[in-house]
Amino acid sequence: MNMKIGVIGSGTMGSGIAQVAAQNGHSVYLIDTSQQALDKAKMNLSQTMSRLVEKAKISADQATAISTLIHYSTDLNDLSSCGLVIEAIVEDIKIKHTLLKELETIVDKDCILASNTSSLSIASLGAALNFSNRIIGIHFFNPAPLMPLVEIIPAVQTSTFVLEKCTELIQQWGKSGVICKDTPGFIVNRVARPFYGEALRIYEEGIADFATIDWAMTHFGGFKMGPFTLMDYIGNDINYAVTESVFESFYFDPRFKPSFTQKRHKEAGYFGRKSGRGYYDYTEVAELLMPNENEEIGKLIFNRILAMLINEAIDAVFMQVGTSEAIDLAMTKGVNYPKGLLKWADEIGLPTILERLEDLFSTYGEDRYRPNALLRKMVKEQKSFY
Ligand SMILES: NC(=O)c1ccc[n+]([C@@H]2O[C@H](COP(=O)([O-])OP(=O)(O)OC[C@H]3O[C@@H](n4cnc5c(N)ncnc54)[C@H](O)[C@@H]3O)[C@@H](O)[C@H]2O)c1
Repeated sequence: MNMKIGVIGSGTMGSGIAQVAAQNGHSVYLIDTSQQALDKAKMNLSQTMSRLVEKAKISADQATAISTLIHYSTDLNDLSSCGLVIEAIVEDIKIKHTLLKELETIVDKDCILASNTSSLSIASLGAALNFSNRIIGIHFFNPAPLMPLVEIIPAVQTSTFVLEKCTELIQQWGKSGVICKDTPGFIVNRVARPFYGEALRIYEEGIADFATIDWAMTHFGGFKMGPFTLMDYIGNDINYAVTESVFESFYFDPRFKPSFTQKRHKEAGYFGRKSGRGYYDYTEVAELLMPNENEEIGKLIFNRILAMLINEAIDAVFMQVGTSEAIDLAMTKGVNYPKGLLKWADEIGLPTILERLEDLFSTYGEDRYRPNALLRKMVKEQKSFY
């Protein structure tokens, strides 16, 4: 499938997606309204290629071939003969609509139009098009050349042909593609919410400090980073915005309720690593925060957050957002979880997970802790996911 690929938006995501397509032999047109952004993308790619050659990951000839396959332009008309165009511009529905409408006047009728959006519905983007059966979500993770996961999201309008063609293409590009329903947060940004939300809640209740909660998740769970370290890495501004958007999109379901602690950190400009201060202090004079390595508290924290994550993963299966396999693959390949959550649930035993959730639900009396109906049903029928 050696079609010409268009990528619009040459920022963090667009430039990475263009690299992935070029590495797979496609001629790529990378478009941006800003010449400065294009120059930066070109410079970054050249540095990346030099690094890959230095590390002997690719030859100098391959690096030249990849670089020459990417054409940088501010003119949308250059996309006229593309078979697939992926937009990765600013996350604004009005701006995306204007772009898609204009794009449709340039490309052929059978050109697939994809969006890399993280939070907008694919159906709402397709509504801008005359031929809306060509819209699809192709959601890469940052950095696109390194992260193996790609969520493929058909909208209600998307044709089977478009879905099949994109699934095949993503597989050819060596990525792990998972098909998911056009629902808020798709798989990863939905299922991962309790990793942050429940950690913040545990902190707010005064059960433990940031360092202890992080220690519990890395020590007992084998997560590469604890929730607070990870939120500081992602940026509290970005992470809070995703939480708020998922909460609103789910009609204010208390499961996704944002936290005042994170809001205040964001308001204070404590974004995390990028601002030098988040939950932790990243300046040179900072004192290292040490966890309280109390095994009992650590296990309690880990069991509570994991039960909430598993409940969310089960809800995603129940609501047919994706298959069990797709959800486990998404969490291990998209956010590096040490194990698929449903496989983990089987290992611990579904009755134990249900018991932990019922405990939380009866202690707090909050809807946020309600065990999922599918979990109850599976326990009753003595079933497991695998
Ligand atoms: N950053 C992430 O971690 C991440 C991960 C997955 C998905 N996304 C999604 O990818 C998209 C892009 O995010 P990003 O972080 O790469 O943004 P970014 O700000 O780094 O880049 C956006 C680029 O789009 C350009 N642009 C804006 N309007 C344009 C237009 N009308 N036509 C052409 N170019 C235009 C800007 O000049 C800029 O260079 C968003 O939809 C975002 O939700 C982001």
